Amino acid sequence: MKEEEFLKKLKAHWEKNDIPNISFTNAKFLRDLIKIKKAKKILEIGTANGFSTINFAYEIKNLSYSSITTIEFSPKSYADALINFKEAWVESLINPILWNALDVIPKLKEKYDFVFIDGMKKRSKDFLLLVRNKTKKWGIIIIDDVIKFKKIEHKEKMLPLYNYVEENKISHNIIPIDVDDWIMMIIKD
Ligand SMILES: C[S@@+](CC[C@H](N)C(=O)[O-])C[C@H]1O[C@@H](n2cnc3c(N)ncnc32)[C@H](O)[C@@H]1O
Repeated sequence: MKEEEFLKKLKAHWEKNDIPNISFTNAKFLRDLIKIKKAKKILEIGTANGFSTINFAYEIKNLSYSSITTIEFSPKSYADALINFKEAWVESLINPILWNALDVIPKLKEKYDFVFIDGMKKRSKDFLLLVRNKTKKWGIIIIDDVIKFKKIEHKEKMLPLYNYVEENKISHNIIPIDVDDWIMMIIKD
């Protein structure tokens, strides 16, 4: 099956199960960033069923020594993702970790050139604090869902993140990817 067909099938199947995967528009944007960055080491927080991870893997598969470390704490989601990585023929590129990202990130030995934060929204600031040391100079950090118009309570969850970047004068961009999904991009200096 072609890669695009596989991704469509995967997303359609999981939408029925209410899995909050990134949109195709977001996936394309992130893949383009990975492409221009020639990112070899990617870190993802929040694997879910592996849809975003597989997108990233398709993008890096022709770069030698590239890999993705992806962290998920739900055993069910982790198990589903492993099956999907196998079906997508990308398992050799992925280092999946079943653990709480808040505990495991400090133990990671590598530094990454692309980091995607898509875990529990109210912990986005904590994830950012942890990954900043693990990101290479000029590495790209993306935080998903920084604005969701349909959910008013969502903004509350993101307040610690907004306060943190403003108080610490961390240069960032907020990019409207879809009507209902905006991301924050930080370039590690
Ligand atoms: C929005 S979903 C990820 C969607 C996925 N990135 C995609 O687009 O295909 C968020 C996932 O993060 C996981 N998660 C949330 N907080 C976490 C944490 N502290 N450590 C590990 N996984 C976490 C949840 O179990 C959930 O599966």
